[in-house]
Formats: sequence, C-alpha cells, structure tokens
Amino acid sequence: MTSPKTNFKKLTVPDFKGRKVERKKLVMVTCYDSSFARVLNETDVDILLVGDSCAMTMHGHDSTIQADVGMIALHTAAVARAAPGKFLVADLPFLSVRKGLAPAMEAIGSLLKAGAHAVKLEGLKGNEDIIRHVVESGIPVMGHLGLTPQFVNAFGGMKVQGKSTEAQEQMLKDAIEYEKLGAFSLVLECVPTEIATKIAAKLSIPVIGIGAGAEVDGQVLVLQDLLGFTPDFKPKFLRRYLNGYELFKGAFDRFTEEVRGGEYPSKEESY
Ligand code: KIV
Repeated sequence: MTSPKTNFKKLTVPDFKGRKVERKKLVMVTCYDSSFARVLNETDVDILLVGDSCAMTMHGHDSTIQADVGMIALHTAAVARAAPGKFLVADLPFLSVRKGLAPAMEAIGSLLKAGAHAVKLEGLKGNEDIIRHVVESGIPVMGHLGLTPQFVNAFGGMKVQGKSTEAQEQMLKDAIEYEKLGAFSLVLECVPTEIATKIAAKLSIPVIGIGAGAEVDGQVLVLQDLLGFTPDFKPKFLRRYLNGYELFKGAFDRFTEEVRGGEYPSKEESY
C-alpha cells in the first residue's frame, strides 16, 4: 500500500462558508470503498460522500430505500481508513431519523464513530427538531432537497422537482429553514436551474448541486456515474469522465484470453 502523498488541505466545516465567499467551487464525489478512497485521497476533490446510493452502486438494489445504518457505517469506515485527508460526509439512510430522537442519535453516533465528519439528511419537513438537536450536539448537518431519492415512491419516480411556482416557493422556504437550523451546506438534486440559482444566491451556506445547473456553489456526482460504470443511466446532467465500463471489461477480457492462451503468467511472473 502506498502512503498518502497529498499536500491538499483537508476541508473543515468553517471552510465551507469561506469557499462560498471566495467563489471557489466545492467538489464532492461519492465513495464507498477503500480502493477508490485511496485514489480520491490523492486528488483535490474537497468532500467524499458515503451516499445511500451505495445500496445501488455497491449492493445492486434498484433504489436507495434498501440502505441501512449498518451498511453506511461499514462503507464509511472503509473510506475513512483510506482517505484520511478528506472531509467525509455519511448519508442518513431511509427512516433512520424518523423513529424518534434516541434512535436517530444512535444512528448518527454510529456514522460519526465510523469516521464521518458530518451527516447528510434528505428532506426537511418533520425533521426540524432532530436537525436542531444534532447541530446543537456539535454534529455538522448537510441538508438535501429537490429530488431526494428516499422519496421516490411519494414522487412517483425519479423526476425533476420544483417545476411549479408553489413547489419552488416551498423549496426556497425549506432551504432558508435548513440554514436557520444550522446546516453547514445543502445539496440540491435535479431541480430547474432558475430555483437552484435563487436558493444559492439567498443562502450564506454553500449549495452543492447535482442536476441543478452551474450557478450553485459546487457540484457532486456519483463516482460510478462519473467514471462511466453505469452506461445505461443517462440523465441530462451527467457528464462521464471515463468509459469505465468498457475499460474495465477490456482488462478482464484480456486477462481471460491470456490465461487461456497460456500467455499469463510468463516465466518472469513465476517463482
Ligand atoms: O446518495 C447519494 O449518492 C447522494 C448524492 C446523489 C448527492 O445523495
């Protein structure tokens, strides 16, 4: 294993507002395992998110509903061990904060003990008291509004949110409330650029977008989407930075061919 070579400064919660003032965009990538965490630790990416999307990317489920605290904690610990130079956010999975304060604090405690520096929570309504208590307990909270995937059934599918004037007004109110409750940043997912721009301009905490246009304070992508491991997933917002699926498949195919053809291992690769 190589030792960390990075000289990049590790972000802390007080840096977030500063980055908004400086207009230096925040870059967040999801990460769930130590192999990719080790690579990301050597980059200038600001934030690693152990998203509940790990239920889909790592465990093959068709939604994030199947993620639970144990799953997120396990992935958080793996990422924390391999990326000590990164600010690490763990997702609060489906229903983990909806069973009362004590179970919510238990869940949040396990994610912090696994190595997260902050937690991300989807939606606002009904979570206000918990958010206040978590923030007052010294635990940084990242909010998440717009297309919150844990609400997929209520939304009737993975659809762009905030299209109507009423929905946009509500989203702006919720974003302002998140800031008032002490959240240090907010994710806005799949919303029209117009409302994302308005929210980012109104808040003093940074807004990190995914499918929310360019006029926000940062961007996040799911690692597997960014690297092209999900060729059938084609949302408008997604730009792939690698053809990972073909590249990796090619390597596995070549290994298979060379084993069967007697080309691997060579004499030099043998004891
Ligand atoms: O779980 C996740 O990957 C997320 C990002 C899409 C923001 O919440």
